[in-house]
Amino acid sequence: MSKPDLRILTAPVSSGFETMTFPIYRPLLKLEPRPLHPEMGDTKLVKPLAIGAFLEDKPVGLVVVETPVEGSSDPDARDPEMLSLFCHKEFRNHGVGRALVTQLEKVLAERGFARLHAVYMTGKPHTAAVESILRRRRWSPPAARTVTVRFTPEEAAATPWFGARFLEPEYEIFPWKELTSEERAEIERSHKESPWISEGLEPWLHDRYGFDPASSLGLRYKGEVVGWVINHRLSANRLRFTCSFVRKPLGSRGRIFPVFAASIARAREAGYGNCIFTAPVRFKSMVRFIERRCARWAGFVGETRGSTKELTETGKKTV
Ligand SMILES: CC(C)(COP(=O)(O)OP(=O)(O)OC[C@H]1O[C@@H](n2cnc3c(N)ncnc32)[C@H](O)[C@@H]1OP(=O)(O)O)[C@@H](O)C(=O)NCCC(=O)NCCS
Repeated sequence: MSKPDLRILTAPVSSGFETMTFPIYRPLLKLEPRPLHPEMGDTKLVKPLAIGAFLEDKPVGLVVVETPVEGSSDPDARDPEMLSLFCHKEFRNHGVGRALVTQLEKVLAERGFARLHAVYMTGKPHTAAVESILRRRRWSPPAARTVTVRFTPEEAAATPWFGARFLEPEYEIFPWKELTSEERAEIERSHKESPWISEGLEPWLHDRYGFDPASSLGLRYKGEVVGWVINHRLSANRLRFTCSFVRKPLGSRGRIFPVFAASIARAREAGYGNCIFTAPVRFKSMVRFIERRCARWAGFVGETRGSTKELTETGKKTV
């Protein structure tokens, strides 16, 4: 096979590249600044960069990366992150993927970026190829970031915990859309006074730009809000369980299970056929829950891993 021709893509991008990245990232191929996850209420703009691989002018591979928007005063402006890497089936294992990564590193280093990150899902047929490319390009050893489980409502219903636990009468499950403004203010006030919500699971981080009203639920104990399962619609058929929490020590006896079960039942009624639940590895009890109580029944379990390439010693680009 001849060497692929690698080109930084400019708009309009040939439709031949459309299917070479994840559906959620396809809008990035307009190559205009936009939020990465508008479906989650993300408003921070990123600037996409895409490099295409061509063989005799035919698109055969694509790498897509997010870079910070130039001129941004955002102190959280991040290093570039590789979002997807693809090579057409017919041309795999001929170095196209590695050539794309090599070229991407070169382009970003020339633009003054100090490092490049990648996060990818394991448990897929091409995980070994991705890791082989990163290893050959001397990226950092991959480290686990999150554990992800994908399941249908029917698979969830087959787990031993589904419907097997009941809440005591002092508990009440309610639709999150019915959370009152007083209750919301009290959650924030009490947490500010004496923190009780695990960092990253605060409900306002996850529902401020919207949530799935059909399946997102709250849990009251003696009239006080002590837990939530907040979900987001990814597509007509796909639901993400974004944030779940029950106040300690109330949550320690598996009281989240009936809330999950109620949420999944509602998701099914609302027509969702696929659910995804992701737990950052630092939430050990959630990871245990996935490994021990979900993995055997779920359609897919994998972890995301992160790796970084130091591009240059010249320091991070100022944006
Ligand atoms: C991942 C992907 C882009 C790799 O593209 P590619 O052009 O085949 O990659 P390369 O030929 O440059 O390199 C592949 C490397 O993986 C190795 N490899 C492939 N299959 C492997 C396996 N099962 N076990 C171990 N190594 C494997 C190859 O030997 C090669 O390494 P080498 O160059 O040291 O010999 C391609 O498989 C693909 O498009 N997969 C589908 C999309 C995907 O999963 N993308 C990644 C997540 S976004």
